[in-house]
Amino acid sequence: MRSNQTERVSEMKMADKTVIVTGAGGGMGKAIVRKLLGEGATVAGIDLKDEAMAELKHERFLPFAASILDEKVIERVFSEMHEKTGRIDGLVNAAGIAQSATPIDDVSLDDWHRLIDINATSLFITAKQAARYMKPAGKGSIITIASVSATRPRPGLQSYIASKGAAESFTRALAIELAESGVRANTIHPGPADTGMLSQFTAKGADSEQARKEIFESSVPLGRLIQPEDIAGGVLYLLSDDASMVTGTTLHIDGGRGL
Ligand SMILES: NC(=O)c1ccc[n+]([C@@H]2O[C@H](COP(=O)([O-])OP(=O)(O)OC[C@H]3O[C@@H](n4cnc5c(N)ncnc54)[C@H](O)[C@@H]3O)[C@@H](O)[C@H]2O)c1
Repeated sequence: MRSNQTERVSEMKMADKTVIVTGAGGGMGKAIVRKLLGEGATVAGIDLKDEAMAELKHERFLPFAASILDEKVIERVFSEMHEKTGRIDGLVNAAGIAQSATPIDDVSLDDWHRLIDINATSLFITAKQAARYMKPAGKGSIITIASVSATRPRPGLQSYIASKGAAESFTRALAIELAESGVRANTIHPGPADTGMLSQFTAKGADSEQARKEIFESSVPLGRLIQPEDIAGGVLYLLSDDASMVTGTTLHIDGGRGL
């Protein structure tokens, strides 16, 4: 290896590390996977969208087309990655679904259960596997992408916001429980982000392009939507040794929306 290549590898924050990313085919998920691959990690992606994950083709990327609610498959992803690389350093929970702004009168119990299952119950399933491998290793980092809406709600998103509040509380609970094993757990609260999900938050029948400008963009004090790369930068920090004393915290990457 030439010396400038050696230098680059030694500068990489995730060289030889193994990370599992849910929602890897989504807007934020893809940016997170690309960032981690660029920093030398081996990455397993889990998403329902096989084709979106195919865009990430890389010798160190392993896609698993599955639901995050399928406990057996999640168990298999962790065990295969551990068998292959001998380690599980990080879990990034980025999968999720939106709720279109709807008054509670028109939200069914099934709608509520679906949001809570995918955005919150799934975290129990993935974190349980992460703990299984990280605790004996005495290290690891778990990151959950929740939402600034958990602290700064918008009308009509009651079920989504409840799921994201649960995500943050669950992650804090993991942080205290796993601290004695050297495992860290942190939440990221994105503000309105420029991904396919954003238009799904508008009320049914509303003009999503108008909502994007008038509701979402204008609600960010720093004046623009959050880009997936903004989130990927925060994920890299929380996974890396730079954050070795950071646990139980919530990093707002929201352009000031939470203020
Ligand atoms: N976009 C925003 O404005 C915004 C704001 C705050 C928080 N968030 C959160 O950020 C995270 C990433 O969202 P995004 O903006 O990249 O949206 P996205 O829709 O682009 O990505 C979400 C991904 O999750 C996957 N997914 C959904 N259900 C799944 C399941 N059961 N099993 C496996 N995969 C599943 C989808 O296929 C999709 O690829 C989500 O948790 C979201 O709630 C988004």
